[in-house]
Amino acid sequence: MSEETRFGLEQPFFLHGGDYNPDQWLEQPEIIERDFELMDKANCNTFSIGVFSWTKLEPSDGVFDFGWLDNILNLCEKHGKRVFLATPTGARPAWLGNQFPETNRILKDGTRARWNERENHCYTSPVMREHAARIVTRLAERYGNHPAVCGWHISNEFNGECFCPLCLERFHNYLKDKYKTLETFNQAAWAGFWSHIYTDWSQIDPRDCTLDLLDLEWKRFITVCTVEFMKLETDIIRTYSQAPVTTNMMGFYNGLDYWRLAEACDFIADDCYPSWDKEEPLKVGARVAMSHDMHYAMKNKPFLMMESCPGRPEWCVRKMRRAGEFEREMLLAIGHGADGTMYFQWRKGRGGMEKFHGAVVDHDGSNRTMIFKRVADYGAKLKTLAEIHGAAIQADCAVISDWESRWALMSTFGFQGAPGQEKENDMPLRHYSALWGCHVSIAVIEQVCDFSKYKFLIVPSLYMLKKGVAERLIQFTEKGGTLILTNMTGMVDENNQAILGGFPGNGLRKFCGVWNEDVDCPDPGEQTVMLNGFQLNERNSFPVTGRCEIIHAEDADVLATYGLDFYKGYPAITRKKAGAGYVFYIAADLDEEVLTAFYKLLLMNLKIKPLLPGLPDCVRVAKRSKDGHDYYFVQNFSNELQHLSLSGKMMNIWSGNAKGNKIYLGPGESTILRA
Ligand code: GAL
Repeated sequence: MSEETRFGLEQPFFLHGGDYNPDQWLEQPEIIERDFELMDKANCNTFSIGVFSWTKLEPSDGVFDFGWLDNILNLCEKHGKRVFLATPTGARPAWLGNQFPETNRILKDGTRARWNERENHCYTSPVMREHAARIVTRLAERYGNHPAVCGWHISNEFNGECFCPLCLERFHNYLKDKYKTLETFNQAAWAGFWSHIYTDWSQIDPRDCTLDLLDLEWKRFITVCTVEFMKLETDIIRTYSQAPVTTNMMGFYNGLDYWRLAEACDFIADDCYPSWDKEEPLKVGARVAMSHDMHYAMKNKPFLMMESCPGRPEWCVRKMRRAGEFEREMLLAIGHGADGTMYFQWRKGRGGMEKFHGAVVDHDGSNRTMIFKRVADYGAKLKTLAEIHGAAIQADCAVISDWESRWALMSTFGFQGAPGQEKENDMPLRHYSALWGCHVSIAVIEQVCDFSKYKFLIVPSLYMLKKGVAERLIQFTEKGGTLILTNMTGMVDENNQAILGGFPGNGLRKFCGVWNEDVDCPDPGEQTVMLNGFQLNERNSFPVTGRCEIIHAEDADVLATYGLDFYKGYPAITRKKAGAGYVFYIAADLDEEVLTAFYKLLLMNLKIKPLLPGLPDCVRVAKRSKDGHDYYFVQNFSNELQHLSLSGKMMNIWSGNAKGNKIYLGPGESTILRA
């Protein structure tokens, strides 16, 4: 395949570039000309174009103007830039929203929204679908084989929901398809509660929180609708173009089950805007690394960080970037499996609500800003990393973070944390973060994924168990895996109905030898966990930070007990041998420090070694491998100089120096070592 016809992430180099909106600058052709000079200076090679260009492409209903886009794509080709051509459905033209108000969503309160802002069209409206299909067809026909187009950027950050009569009717049809009869649905929804037995599908209102299956099904349905809308676009594109399709996700955005959206994408793209100034860098870093690890795991392949901010995303960050922070964020993505990092956006616009949002080119228009220079320097470094492009991540450890289970817990009444604590299930993040602190590679997966490729599996608060999952967890362990179950696991089934026979359900009670009788949500300081005859970090007592369960060790060794109050002495952490493996049950929310120490101990016993030994606590490492070489991305998350002593010879990929085993990392600094 020649370089010109390589698609998506298959380039022989890392992608680097961003959202480019030349349609906002058509009146100043000298700016566009300058852009292409600057792109080379910034070492940028790839751009998303046309994300919000619908009105420029179709100024009025059925009247098209592609001249400007022809010109821009030809310029990209001439200058060797790759393009993710966007379908412009993320923002509708005013004429569409006003001429056809049915394309505007109906809000939860039943009122029709006015045309405004973006990403707010009704996915069901036939008029919307017709107009979207028409513009996408015109783009795909015209540019499907354009040499600059290496992929398709579908719409933008799909999100939200519509309660119009058409969407509600579709929801009813979705339920009908799934449950076949009202009787089955009523049973699944436990509809006898508050006399909610439905006698006609049309009576079902997803806004009624009485039956907590409704909210869950509505969320599933919104994912189905969104994927369908995306497919409407991608099916058209696929008839005209071989280039792969993707859409930009938003980390762990709660409104859509991204694993289902992932199935509709040829490769995964994500937008990432961490607020480094709001929390400890390691806290922010954990969330970001976890999201990257999930995006890699979705296809077990490199993904693209489609958007990030080279400066300050004005809507969430107050402070300018500190030394090392920018490069650390970019290399965090590359280390965790990105084959490209791109920005929103290339050039700051002169108006609109994002005019002071960080961009590569500032209003002064030069290449002299700090941000431009940083981007250019990083771009130059990326060019030298071509040998790592496409490298794989091999993880022995996995953490389950499951959308539907999170939804089910969120729509269930009860289990509120103490005042100030969020009810949201942040346990997957807490456990991920602890494991990340053990310096191992981690896959972040959902409950229906294959567990067999891992040795160590953490299942934090998997409240909802889908069919067959308990059996697969048991199999995983009996074949030699180490399984960690935590509180709030296995309480409801796919209908959000409590599982009978004692929690954790579906056979897990017997399997792990623990019965969870009840759940307490104490205030901070009200409960502790005492380790039985061993210490972690030279301590044997730790605070409970949130929920904790009153459990009975029916057939398991007790490793720790509660230290206070009326359930003092009850088990808090247990272990049981199961076949060739072990299952642990952690009944209380614990802080990261104790979890990290606990996992370090377990991993050591399992002979799962850290990627690099002896790293300081504030340093993190990620590993990618290709053609027999291992590449270690080592990053300092502190503001102090860190000194690393490594065993074995490592080569700094940039300096080329074989420095033996001594490495210094400045504040916030990152580097890549080749073994
Ligand atoms: C993203 C969005 C971009 C831009 C950016 C600003 O969520 O996709 O279009 O608005 O935020 O940070």
